[in-house]
Amino acid sequence: MTNYDTLADEALSAIAEAGDLATLDALRPNILGKKAPISSAKSGLGNLDADQRKAAGQAINTARQSIEAAFNERRAGLAATARAAALETERLDLTEFQGVGTTGHLHLVTQARDRLEDVFVGMGYTIAEGPEVETAWYNFEALNIPEWHPARGSFDTIFVNLGEPEEVMLRSHTSPVQIRTMEAQEPPIYIVAPGRTFRTDTADATHLPAFNQIEGLVIDKGITMGDLAGTIDTFVRAFFGEEVKSRLRPSYFPFTEPSAEFDISRADGSWLELGGCGMVHPNVLRNCGIDPDVWQGFAFGFGIDRLAVMRYQLDDMRELVNNDVRFLRQF
Ligand code: DAH
Repeated sequence: MTNYDTLADEALSAIAEAGDLATLDALRPNILGKKAPISSAKSGLGNLDADQRKAAGQAINTARQSIEAAFNERRAGLAATARAAALETERLDLTEFQGVGTTGHLHLVTQARDRLEDVFVGMGYTIAEGPEVETAWYNFEALNIPEWHPARGSFDTIFVNLGEPEEVMLRSHTSPVQIRTMEAQEPPIYIVAPGRTFRTDTADATHLPAFNQIEGLVIDKGITMGDLAGTIDTFVRAFFGEEVKSRLRPSYFPFTEPSAEFDISRADGSWLELGGCGMVHPNVLRNCGIDPDVWQGFAFGFGIDRLAVMRYQLDDMRELVNNDVRFLRQF
């Protein structure tokens, strides 16, 4: 009988000595496994008579239970210590962010886009969207830019390796959303469509290969170039301030006739080009199943990044995508 008590004592002191989880776990087969002394003691019971066997069996069970209890308790204690140590080494010192500003905010291009949307929604427009990957029909053909048209070359289009060559592309402007809206909606139509656009440009102070445009489209009865000029003027004053003026300059776009570029006045009296606009070309209306003898409209499009650069007086458009927190937190 005393023999069995000693078995437990040895196991218990080994458990107490184990200083970490790995040592303790390595101990387990030796004190509780099949080859552990306590297990072989049990197989020796067959030689004893019934009474002795019963008493010895109980003593072995008690010993085993005390070993198990000690093992589990020690294990829980060591696990807690290990966890506390891990937490301490993985701790992040959040105070190091002090002075950088602990709350984030919307990117300034997003702020500019939101403000633009607000101005146009205030004028009764709704927001439209289209896909960033387009087919030649939406990006060019339906906009009165057939395959042979020299204007195609001026768009520096990024093509996607799908379908026929030069058939699928990253949209090079937001104008395809005009087509998708006219296909999906009956006139009258008053929409603006902000979104990402892509060209093969190398990033420099005034260009980004992935940039943002906003497109406007109005289709209604009796719409004139005067409505277009008035709309642009109203938008410019609402966005930049009452002192800023706008002007239209004759220009050319395949999807509008007549076409114009619009400029805004700067504090020094000079003019800055903001975007293109014009009366929607009858071919474009016909391509969307709209009768040009009944409906007329105007469209415009300009770059949001360029507008953010102007509004926040940035030196370099690349600042918008460098994600330097010291730059971003100023706005
Ligand atoms: N899509 C033209 C561009 O990216 C901008 C533009 C010009 C849009 C005239 C229009 C428009 O809707 O009428 O260069």
